[in-house]
Amino acid sequence: MKRRTLFILSLVHLTLMLSVQKKTTRVKSADAIDLKVKTLLAKMTLDEKIGQLNQYTSDRLATGPLTPNSSKFNEIKTGRVGAMLNVKGAKETRMVQELAMRSRLKIPLLFGLDVIHGYRVTFPVPLAEAASWDLDLIEKSARIAGKEAAAAGVHWTFAPMVDIARDPRWGRVMEGAGEDPYLGSLIAGARVRGFQGKGLGNLDAIMACVKHFAAYGAAIGGRDYNTTDMSDRTLWEVYLPPFKAALDAGAATFMNGFNDLNGVPATGNSYLQRDILKGKWAFNGFVVSDWGSIGEMVNHGFATDNKQAGMLAINAGNDMDMESHSYNANLAQLVKEKKVSVATIDEAVKRVLRKKFEMGLFDAPYRFSNEEREKNTLNSPENRAAARDIAKHSIVLLKNDNQLLPLSKTLKTIAVIGPLAKSNIDMMGFWSVKWENDHLISLYEGIENKVGKTTKLLYAQGCDVTDTSKVNFSEAIATAMQADVVVVAVGEHFDMTGEAKSKANIHLPGVQEDLIRAIKATGKPVVVLTMSGRPLIFNWTADHADAILQTWWLGSEAGNAMADVLFGDYNPSGKLPISFPRSEGQIPVYYNYKNTGRPSANDYGTGYKSGYTDLQNSPRYAFGYGLSYSEFELSGLTLDKTSIKPNETIKITCTLKNTGKYAGEETVQLYLRDETGSVTRPVKELKGFKKVYLKSGETKMVNFVINKEMLSFYDQKMNWTTEPGTFDIMIGNSSDHIVLNSKFELLQ
Ligand code: GLC
Repeated sequence: MKRRTLFILSLVHLTLMLSVQKKTTRVKSADAIDLKVKTLLAKMTLDEKIGQLNQYTSDRLATGPLTPNSSKFNEIKTGRVGAMLNVKGAKETRMVQELAMRSRLKIPLLFGLDVIHGYRVTFPVPLAEAASWDLDLIEKSARIAGKEAAAAGVHWTFAPMVDIARDPRWGRVMEGAGEDPYLGSLIAGARVRGFQGKGLGNLDAIMACVKHFAAYGAAIGGRDYNTTDMSDRTLWEVYLPPFKAALDAGAATFMNGFNDLNGVPATGNSYLQRDILKGKWAFNGFVVSDWGSIGEMVNHGFATDNKQAGMLAINAGNDMDMESHSYNANLAQLVKEKKVSVATIDEAVKRVLRKKFEMGLFDAPYRFSNEEREKNTLNSPENRAAARDIAKHSIVLLKNDNQLLPLSKTLKTIAVIGPLAKSNIDMMGFWSVKWENDHLISLYEGIENKVGKTTKLLYAQGCDVTDTSKVNFSEAIATAMQADVVVVAVGEHFDMTGEAKSKANIHLPGVQEDLIRAIKATGKPVVVLTMSGRPLIFNWTADHADAILQTWWLGSEAGNAMADVLFGDYNPSGKLPISFPRSEGQIPVYYNYKNTGRPSANDYGTGYKSGYTDLQNSPRYAFGYGLSYSEFELSGLTLDKTSIKPNETIKITCTLKNTGKYAGEETVQLYLRDETGSVTRPVKELKGFKKVYLKSGETKMVNFVINKEMLSFYDQKMNWTTEPGTFDIMIGNSSDHIVLNSKFELLQ
């Protein structure tokens, strides 16, 4: 026994020593880097320092309004540029880096690119991935994107976008993780870990850039770039948590936003950038402006000209100027006029240089620009297989009357109809890296790859996405008449949702719903696939189609993933990360709303209740909703305590049974409600979820632990606190389908 104890003790000692050593090494390397930064800074002229705070785009690919600038390559050679964006590929990045190596101090450039959901292999758009609620898969997706980008000379991605969004009229809902701060925070962390891998300095790690700091998603009216205005409580409870989660995951950089927040543009907002980010949260990376957002403070009426805008931005904590051309043109003069101190510039430059050292670029400026490695890393079968895997996990089954799905692979005749049935390019989504003649698998191809030789496939386009002509309806109807089942592919083109793509009308565009109606009138069973970057409105379809799959834009392997689900090789498990409205008139509609003094009893506003007289309050499809080919039964909720002090916990258990005939995965969701508070509290808040895979007939216990963090909120003085009182526990498989209820008391 003695020897065993000794052995265990020495193991513990060894582990402790290693972890202390690892931390020491980390601290040592940070100190070493700080010394290198300090030493280099001391050699730099003011112009060279300012140059590090300047980022230009390559002219080849502009992701914003381009300012012609023929001198940018000369400026690189004279050390007046610190980073480039939209330069990609081992060859091109090496070529541009060589220009920087001709500057006096040979300070390497950072190359940034919007690697939002994949670099060479395109993954599902971020909102689609969020529908998987699978943090491991989401991290893996970002990991592969990071590896491919790093192999192509990219050091830095302008992702993850973590803006909470409750308004699908705003096209950029597609880039985020939906409406919930809890789910959004977990996904933000997963994406940062994915991009940064084992840490900066590794050859397959790229810097993440958390954006858009902050609250850009609260654009009034869902109009992109519009004003955002909210209480401190809403800012801290809804919009900031995913940013903090991303920072806690080690995010290297932040990007601010185009919006003004409570009257102060994010780019010139020292409350956001200095008080919160660099102060309270002690962020040690750097902040880059969004494209031209410094200069746009003139349009905001916050600066008189680009020079004053530059002064306001850098003094508020914006470190790098993306494409406003303000810092390079004005900072030296602003220093002369004592409107910006050298210390402020030094602070910003140190942040940028530190990241370049951490990325290993001083030791080896071309380490990411290796064509051989690029060729061997990009577009591998494993990467495509991973894209197909997360794509099928991202599909949400909205309806399946009479268990029409899954389809048999030996059906005699299947008609595949609709404007997106054979579309490849629309599967890529708005923010994908565009590749010449890239081949993304269409729905039709996916079905073709799936069904047996005996199955006859028919096709008709029926109509276009946007035009209102019904001239091809007759052909589509005739095609449908020949089939046993009709699969209809409708939705949006890839460029209809994304940046600067806000829409007042988010109904299914054109005459697509009329096409569905015409196909349904044939009496054939109709499966509708809605392919979009945002929630769309399609009430008639929701009422009359036999089955509906929300398939978003699923990337390179879209068609194969859709076929996996259609034919039952994968039992759909997706859950909506954002509410789908019935009408634009009820937006914003979200699950964690407040009860009000006159809560609606019948989902309408009749009888002096809060609501509409002409439409239900509830969304068409709720946050957290998604069906399966199986049925899952929740039962047996137990708590190990019914009252706790703030520092105690409650263990919750319940039972989940798969009562269906297919194996499948259910996402059990835990919601809490603080019944009474010193401020009004939401009717429910997601505080936990568990994805549980069960074979047919199998049962498993599902456990949650309630802790103080889950019960905390900001009181009237904005103190993060708990208050005694009654809490409701709600467990279900959707925010609007709660099966198990209980209560507990939080004591003083
Ligand atoms: C765009 C976007 C931002 C993107 C940047 C660089 O305008 O707002 O999300 O990362 O410019 O392309």
